[in-house]
Amino acid sequence: MRILSVVGARPQFVKLAPIAAAMKGRADHVIAHTGQHYDELMSDVFFRDLGIPAPDFNLGVGSGKHGAQTGAMLHGLEQILEESAPDCVLVYGDTNSTLAAAIAAVKMHIPVAHLEAGLRSFNRRMPEEHNRVLTDHSSDLLLAPTEVAVQHLANEGLGSRTVLVGDVMTDVLFKVRDMLDRTNEPLAVNAEPGGYYVCTIHRPDNTDSPDRLAAILGTLGSLDKPVILLAHPRLVHLAEKHGFSLEQGSLRVASPLAYPQLVNAVRNSAGVITDSGGLQKEAFLLRTPCTTIRPETEWVETVELGWNVLVSEDLGILADTVKRPAPEATDAAPYGDGKASERTVEALLDAFA
Ligand code: UD1
Repeated sequence: MRILSVVGARPQFVKLAPIAAAMKGRADHVIAHTGQHYDELMSDVFFRDLGIPAPDFNLGVGSGKHGAQTGAMLHGLEQILEESAPDCVLVYGDTNSTLAAAIAAVKMHIPVAHLEAGLRSFNRRMPEEHNRVLTDHSSDLLLAPTEVAVQHLANEGLGSRTVLVGDVMTDVLFKVRDMLDRTNEPLAVNAEPGGYYVCTIHRPDNTDSPDRLAAILGTLGSLDKPVILLAHPRLVHLAEKHGFSLEQGSLRVASPLAYPQLVNAVRNSAGVITDSGGLQKEAFLLRTPCTTIRPETEWVETVELGWNVLVSEDLGILADTVKRPAPEATDAAPYGDGKASERTVEALLDAFA
């Protein structure tokens, strides 16, 4: 059976790594990269470090407004689907690349499977929320990471297409963590273990408005330890456009990290401050306290278990929140056992072979 994976943005490369490994010897796996992310540190480094085969196709669409970017992908993917004639298309997560691939496939009557189905923030301001809802309702097989996601899909009448496989990010994270345990890698950030926070900020709601971005940067700069800001190109561009310096007070700007280096930086930090979905969960899996600069999260288990606290409008509480006492230890495993990619391949073969 031929399965075409479509990816395009950084978090999708991380999810592709364990899937590509689990496909070996089980299916003819073809990879298409839309080119949504194209910088060396946003794309190539993940393929190299995580041992992902080079994409069979690369559309090179690059950045753009939502309609132009998604439309260019849709146009290009139609040609790739004609040429590669897959038995099913596997789409990942909630980016514009996910939605474009789902629409391209469904219009050509090719079965679509959505990995990381059923997540909801219920915040319709987020582009990811539109992408998730539209992709789930276009897909034939919904591969859910958590019980909560299964419930959301059932509530929307999609229960009969849903399979709970677990979270493939757990698979890759555990593998990298175990590798770090064996190799004793030095820290890629310029700080002492336990003496810094890891920070990422990139969401439109936090970066597009100059007032909001200035308030966030000012608050981060006032924290009690160095804040290593792994600056997404979107943040760098917007800070330049608004005329802000990212280096203020405790803030130390650094480039985005390769995945193993990120995992090492997080597990040696005093805490994570982020608006990324994946990083909230990675922090939890490494049992590093996280503070999320958003009004809500899809990964509600991290909050319920006490390892993640949301801070949104009232940035005045951020400093005390990041300094809060360590959460209660837990052996809860809401994100699976590290074998989600094997279950995913099994579910694909069951559904479409
Ligand atoms: C995208 C996803 C988001 C995901 C994030 C992970 C959508 C709608 N958003 O957001 O869900 O959390 O990826 O990082 O699909 N840029 C570069 N080089 C790159 C990539 C981006 O310079 O390699 C800059 C460009 O100025 C671009 C901006 O970053 O306009 C935003 O990139 P884009 O892919 O549109 O969205 P992200 O913010 O990365």
